[in-house]
Amino acid sequence: MDLQPSRRVLLAGAGALAFGGIAGAAHAAAEPGPLINPVVRQRADAQVFKHIDGYYYLTGSVPEYDRLIIRRSRTLAGFTDAEEVVVWRRPTEGKLGGYIWAPELHWFDGAWHMYFAAGDKDQPFRIRTYAIRCKSPDAMAGQWELLGKVETPWDTFTLDSTVFHHKGVRYFCWAQKEPGIDTNSNLYLAPLATPLTLGEAPTRLTVPTLDWEIRGFKVAEAPAVLIRNGRVFIAYSASATDDRYCLGLLTADADADLMAQGSWTKSPVPVLVSSEETRVWGPGHNSFTVDEQGRDVLVFHGRDYKAIKGDPLFDPNRHTRVQRLYYKPDGTPDFGVPAGAGEIPDRFSPADQPGAFLRVDGGAVSVGEGPLAATQLRQKAGAGGVWLEPILQPGQALRVEGGKVTVGPGDGAARFKRVKGLAGGKGVSFQAPDGGYLMHRNGAVVVGPARDARARAAATFLVS
Ligand code: AHR
Repeated sequence: MDLQPSRRVLLAGAGALAFGGIAGAAHAAAEPGPLINPVVRQRADAQVFKHIDGYYYLTGSVPEYDRLIIRRSRTLAGFTDAEEVVVWRRPTEGKLGGYIWAPELHWFDGAWHMYFAAGDKDQPFRIRTYAIRCKSPDAMAGQWELLGKVETPWDTFTLDSTVFHHKGVRYFCWAQKEPGIDTNSNLYLAPLATPLTLGEAPTRLTVPTLDWEIRGFKVAEAPAVLIRNGRVFIAYSASATDDRYCLGLLTADADADLMAQGSWTKSPVPVLVSSEETRVWGPGHNSFTVDEQGRDVLVFHGRDYKAIKGDPLFDPNRHTRVQRLYYKPDGTPDFGVPAGAGEIPDRFSPADQPGAFLRVDGGAVSVGEGPLAATQLRQKAGAGGVWLEPILQPGQALRVEGGKVTVGPGDGAARFKRVKGLAGGKGVSFQAPDGGYLMHRNGAVVVGPARDARARAAATFLVS
């Protein structure tokens, strides 16, 4: 295990670190700036989670597919420049000497466990799933040991495993090729009896059969679990790892028998796909976490370009990206579109009209409901103010012309001064260059004086 030679985090009192002691022992780097995508360049398959020690942890595939890494940060934004520790390197020969893919870090049974896929030196694509373990609470400085291979019913292509707990059961969910089924990989679920053995025969959760699952390769991989609103959601990735890569979603009632195939339903359509508008291609291999305010966050990788030279698997530019995860009225996650480069976007709901949002359709700015992506705007901080950039119109911004609010070039007419919400100090308000405030009026968005309580409420936006 080695620390990258670059800037080192000062680990004061690096002796035996009791749990939570880690938080006191590490001097986090200077407070990072805003959360800007891509958060970490060239880290595909990123798993990000917030641990009980108060830190965020990130691991993921590196372009060389030759090592297992961890980053730790007090904030999501801190990952961009965080120290990266190599906790294990593949051997130069023999077993596990092939491609090293998609690690996941989990804490259970009083130790860190990192699951990952590995090929062999002579057959780098002979991919099986293994685990390493660290008994120190400090995953960054502790010693890691190879536990061995995860035993499943078939000795076949096995990858992208995750661990989750539900109703007292520790589950293992992974992707594998099953003899007799003509696909590259399907998803499986089973209780985990020990770190390397299953507690019972696995249940096959899904086989890629839909057109958006079988483009280039017949793939269901990279399961990621989210338990919310009385349901267990498993997002997964499908198709080839180029611009056709996308997310699908399985759903089960949280009280159902998760090991019963019939408990699971599959979305007939993908829930996150490439976006020409936001310029993100091949979004996939996601994980879920919460931000510093406890709000759900989607972590995924994607490229900034569509056309790839050669095998996409060896294109290094699947960068780690994050965006907040919202929910539809029925409680299912609304993935929207991949948000694109820049500050992660927010939604702005008038304090006096909950459930409605600032929204942009082409050049029209209004307040209402409608597709998530039309309501996501990024606050781009600049000299003297902020610009509100609709994620579907990168480079454009809300601007004031003749008292009307439209979308156009992000110049002086688009610069707002952001202040605390005029109605009681909650949320935010935006003051235009002419001194008026952005506010909604009969579904339209205008700029006007906030002379009375009604106007102040109409000019106050709650950020989510
Ligand atoms: O990134 C390497 C592999 O490519 C991952 O394990 C898999 O999810 C993807 O297809």
